[in-house]
Amino acid sequence: MIIIERLNLKGEGIAHGITAARTLPGEEIDGEIVDGRIAQPRIVTPSAQRVSAPCRHYKACGGCAVMHASDAFVADWKQDVVQHALSAQGLNAAFRPLLTSPPKSRRRATLAGRRLKSGALVGFHARASDTVTAISDCQLLDPALLAVIPALEELVIIGGSRKGEMKLTITAFSQAVEVSVTGGKPLDNALRVSLPQIAGRHGFARLAWDGDVLLQTEPPTLTMGRAQVSPPAGAFLQATPQGEAALLAAVKEAVGEARYVADLFAGCGTFSLPLAETAEVHAVESVAAMLESLDRGWRTAKGLKRVTTETRDLFRRPLLPDELAKYDAVVMDPPRAGAEAQVHELARASVPIIAAVSCNPVTFARDARILVQSGYQLDWVQVVDQFRWSAHVELVARFSRINS
Ligand SMILES: C[S@@+](CC[C@H](N)C(=O)[O-])C[C@H]1O[C@@H](n2cnc3c(N)ncnc32)[C@H](O)[C@@H]1O
Repeated sequence: MIIIERLNLKGEGIAHGITAARTLPGEEIDGEIVDGRIAQPRIVTPSAQRVSAPCRHYKACGGCAVMHASDAFVADWKQDVVQHALSAQGLNAAFRPLLTSPPKSRRRATLAGRRLKSGALVGFHARASDTVTAISDCQLLDPALLAVIPALEELVIIGGSRKGEMKLTITAFSQAVEVSVTGGKPLDNALRVSLPQIAGRHGFARLAWDGDVLLQTEPPTLTMGRAQVSPPAGAFLQATPQGEAALLAAVKEAVGEARYVADLFAGCGTFSLPLAETAEVHAVESVAAMLESLDRGWRTAKGLKRVTTETRDLFRRPLLPDELAKYDAVVMDPPRAGAEAQVHELARASVPIIAAVSCNPVTFARDARILVQSGYQLDWVQVVDQFRWSAHVELVARFSRINS
């Protein structure tokens, strides 16, 4: 018999170095141990935090990791993950109550697709496996995304090879769903005809194949503050509208009255465009097409302050102290690797406020330590759970300069 001590960063139970997925701290379990893992744990004494998963696919599907735990448990666990990452760097913080996106709110997801002997399978990967599970009753996805799965299966049947797996990134825009596919057969003349026909018949807003746009009825748009933005195919967008609103509210509060803001890792303008209602914003990002959509959105919106854009690799060429000197606040929202090079430059500069958005508590805490050692105070942390039932953790933190 084993008693689970804690969850690891994947949301799996751990005891004495043994991993048992879908268990909870305090649970007594047993089962066969193979390579340090109990694949099929038997729950002898369940935790009071165990709930029956609200999705019929949960047993087989690997799309969710902690659906067997109460919302209150998951909220505390995600906050603990951030707290532990900070304390490993000798830091602590005031936490605001965690905000979780509701079920069926994911407006963007990447599904796997496999061609079968007859037909196709589209869904999330199965647990600890590279097979694909069907997800017709998925509790995560916006119903508009679930509704396109039969159309995705048609794409996989026509455009998938029997060997490889396809990645299908689907995004629900205001008008319709965009589908962006990689890993399918290379485009030939026949596919250039048949794939757009499927997309047209199912009313896709856009279909892209390995980055090639095969069909676009009208440019799909999203509202960002007062602007309408039409992102390039497959562009990064926040996963749920509620998560985006929570991140934005925290960023706005952190930035406060700032009049000149640099938005680093700006994407298509999730933060830049709403911030431009009260501040001049310089948006920096490595993907030019995303900045072009941000710029077009700004030019066609009314009543915004000036927004400038700069395509720049912030890992190799971070903004330097003399470039940072004119800003009252910096917003930064890097990918999982964090923003170490940029943070070293911020440490040498004197920007009064930094609003740090992160999808990786470990790199966030590493970067936070550099800031704190250079004279910043970590004012608060807001954890935002827009990847409900998964092990992902997102957050916004406010740093203010107390010593230069
Ligand atoms: C987590 S996303 C945030 C985007 C945006 N802030 C938003 O909320 O929609 C990270 C962004 O960083 C960009 N990025 C990744 N590596 C980069 C680099 N080395 N330099 C600049 N931008 C980078 C990505 O293209 C992506 O748009």
